[in-house]
Amino acid sequence: MFTTQILPIDIFAFECEVIDEIIEAVKDEPFKDHDKTSLVLTDLVLQTKSTFIHANHPVLDEYIQRCNDEMWQHVKQPEDTETRLVTTQCWMNESKKGQRHRHHTHPNSVVSGILYLCTSDTPTMFTHPNLYKNGFIQVYPADQHHDTFSSEAVKGFTVLFPSSLSHVVPYHNEDEIRRTISWNTFLEGSIKVGIGTLKVGVVK
Ligand SMILES: [Fe+2]
Repeated sequence: MFTTQILPIDIFAFECEVIDEIIEAVKDEPFKDHDKTSLVLTDLVLQTKSTFIHANHPVLDEYIQRCNDEMWQHVKQPEDTETRLVTTQCWMNESKKGQRHRHHTHPNSVVSGILYLCTSDTPTMFTHPNLYKNGFIQVYPADQHHDTFSSEAVKGFTVLFPSSLSHVVPYHNEDEIRRTISWNTFLEGSIKVGIGTLKVGVVK
């Protein structure tokens, strides 16, 4: 694992050693079609019908959990010792030529992840909101100030990032379909709060 910093935010990267097994496992997962009854543009990325695909594929589930555990081990605070990140949602994305994914964040999640199933020239671009854009306060030294971090799409490459961090996938311009797996997480365990503990978790 290694980290890269944009503004004060770390993004965590992994190399997936079981990528071929995961690709084989998920290859027949059905996708939702575009909603023909709405005005939703058909140039948007397609996603699988299920947002819980990890439950059907142990090789995927175990890999994601290993990433969650390693990342959380690195960032958690002493008072978080009784917590871990558990996967709450997991789905596959598919961009055909001419499709894109608009700016978005992942609500109801602490940390999100992306696993690239293929290599392409279409990156994922993370954008930190510049609260002082065109502004009046220089909050970081200019040479450390980066608003955007681009994650290249390389087969097996994996990134974990704060779910509140806005990101976008620009128009995909290649004939080969761009596929990724995304997931969300939430904390499970107990957090020390004042003199007590707060129990957190996912209701199943
Ligand atoms: Fe996303």
